[in-house]
Amino acid sequence: MTKHITIPKNFMTIFIVTFFMSNALAKTLLPPNDIADRFHNDSETIKIASSDFGHIVQEIPAAVFYPNSVDDIASLVKYAYNNSVPINVAARGQAHSTWGQSLARDGVVVNMTSLGNRLNGSGIIVSSDSSLGSYADVGGEQLWIDVLNTTLQYGLSPVSWVDYLYLTVGGTLSNAGISGQSFRFGPQISNVYELDVITGKGEFVTCSPKENSELYYAVLGGLGQFGIITRARIALEPAPKRVKWLRLFYSDFSAFTKDQENLISKNERRDNKALNYLEGMLLLNQGPQDLSFYPVSAYARINSLVTQYGIIYCLEAAKYYYDDRESRVEKELLDLLKGNLGFLPDFMFEKDVTYMEFLNRVRSSELFLRSKGQWEVPHPWLNLFVPESRILDFNSGVLKNIILKQKIPAGIVLIYPMNRNK
Ligand SMILES: Cc1cc2nc3c(=O)[nH]c(=O)nc-3n(C[C@H](O)[C@H](O)[C@H](O)COP(=O)(O)OP(=O)(O)OC[C@H]3O[C@@H](n4cnc5c(N)ncnc54)[C@H](O)[C@@H]3O)c2cc1C
Ligand SMILES: *[C@@H]1O[C@H](CO)[C@@H](O)[C@H](O)[C@H]1NC(C)=O
Ligand SMILES: *[C@@H]1O[C@H](CO)[C@@H](O)[C@H](O)[C@H]1NC(C)=O
Ligand SMILES: *[C@@H]1O[C@H](CO)[C@@H](O)[C@H](O)[C@H]1NC(C)=O
Ligand SMILES: *[C@@H]1O[C@H](CO)[C@@H](O)[C@H](O)[C@H]1NC(C)=O
Ligand SMILES: *[C@@H]1O[C@H](CO)[C@@H](O)[C@H](O)[C@H]1NC(C)=O
Repeated sequence: MTKHITIPKNFMTIFIVTFFMSNALAKTLLPPNDIADRFHNDSETIKIASSDFGHIVQEIPAAVFYPNSVDDIASLVKYAYNNSVPINVAARGQAHSTWGQSLARDGVVVNMTSLGNRLNGSGIIVSSDSSLGSYADVGGEQLWIDVLNTTLQYGLSPVSWVDYLYLTVGGTLSNAGISGQSFRFGPQISNVYELDVITGKGEFVTCSPKENSELYYAVLGGLGQFGIITRARIALEPAPKRVKWLRLFYSDFSAFTKDQENLISKNERRDNKALNYLEGMLLLNQGPQDLSFYPVSAYARINSLVTQYGIIYCLEAAKYYYDDRESRVEKELLDLLKGNLGFLPDFMFEKDVTYMEFLNRVRSSELFLRSKGQWEVPHPWLNLFVPESRILDFNSGVLKNIILKQKIPAGIVLIYPMNRNK
């Protein structure tokens, strides 16, 4: 017997499955009376819960569960666990995954949004104590934009983010939550003090690095497979007021990655001189380009630069400031950048924005793409960690030889380094 590697086959299967399943009928379940009315199986609800932001995979559930409380979720999972034929259960945050992770074929999709603003009316409670300092207790269903909006009212903020804030806390903590702050603070899952989880047996368990630690470490980054997060206690620190936000263009990939790596080599949490954020992206003429960051007067020369080189590498960095001493931040930033940075000298763009405008920056890209009908489209997205030793090969092999040479229509391509110890 031989085993085959089936990557190309899987691709075909996915498309065939999509085709046939559109006509399939959903299964019928017999839930216990006390939670029966939380099950919805009308065709409109089933349709919504059958796909996700990826628009690639489709799986039809038997029902969508609308919990009114954490106890409802516990009852559902107990029922699913105890059923003679196992029932798939998947939590659905915003279903912004791209390969069907929040779907449940013939099973039950839990509409986390339905939990509503149960914690003190907002879903978010800000507190502090002498051992942890400030923190927020947040429902797993809450959106990061609302966590930010609420904590800012106390002059506080989480420290580690994702690029796009209309995602749920439970959804990103089930992955990792990686962004331009991770090189200093680690991903979002490294900034959680405690969780409430409904386990696979339907038990309600509070866990932390000290209490039920095995569950805590399994659930964080656990891809939704070890339980349903109903509350997370998130670390908070004083919120910055404003942000100096920079974009530097490179035509040379090795200069670009060398500068990125140098800039994140200062990465102690408390180092005031370190950058607060670093990412990077490609500029290509192979799909819709959102140039709204740049002054309109620069559009023509940006476009001709991209045409000249095919790919331009854009280093994106930010430095926060906490008071009104803008000139000091400006100087610190220039100190960081001066020396041997290899960007194209005429292509340095700078903005000064509020902290909220900075963190919520992808919202405007969303609105731009929606206006072009390019948001609710298939997203065959891929996230990869590539070892530093092979990143130049990745540029020549994938970015240049595949994406550029074969003129593959490309949306957003982000590329930035991470410190392994974070
Ligand atoms: C525009 C955009 C930008 C993005 N940017 C980033 C980024 O910068 N960094 C990054 O790390 N990711 C990013 N992501 C990816 C994002 O983190 C994942 O898609 C995440 O899964 C989305 O959260 P969601 O709330 O929609 O989760 P869903 O897609 O609903 O769920 C994701 C997984 O978690 C499970 N799950 C959901 N809620 C819970 C819960 N309460 N308890 C346990 N399991 C649960 C689901 O069953 C599923 O397996 C981005 C996504 C989009 C669409
Ligand atoms: C919806 O659920 C009810 C019972 O809860 C069941 O009688 C009905 O057949 C289900 N509809 C579908 C389409 O499965
Ligand atoms: C589990 O199922 C059995 C019968 O199948 C039933 O008697 C029992 O009450 C169920 N337990 C729970 C917790 O639902
Ligand atoms: C989930 O519930 C919210 C509010 O309760 C509703 O607006 C949304 O449409 C529901 N989503 C699904 C997939 O059922
Ligand atoms: C709920 O919010 C009110 C007003 O914002 C606050 O005074 C109170 O302490 C909060 N309660 C809890 C339990 O956090
Ligand atoms: C922040 O909350 C306020 C008050 O609820 C609301 O008016 C505002 O739109 C929110 N901002 C964002 C970006 O969601």
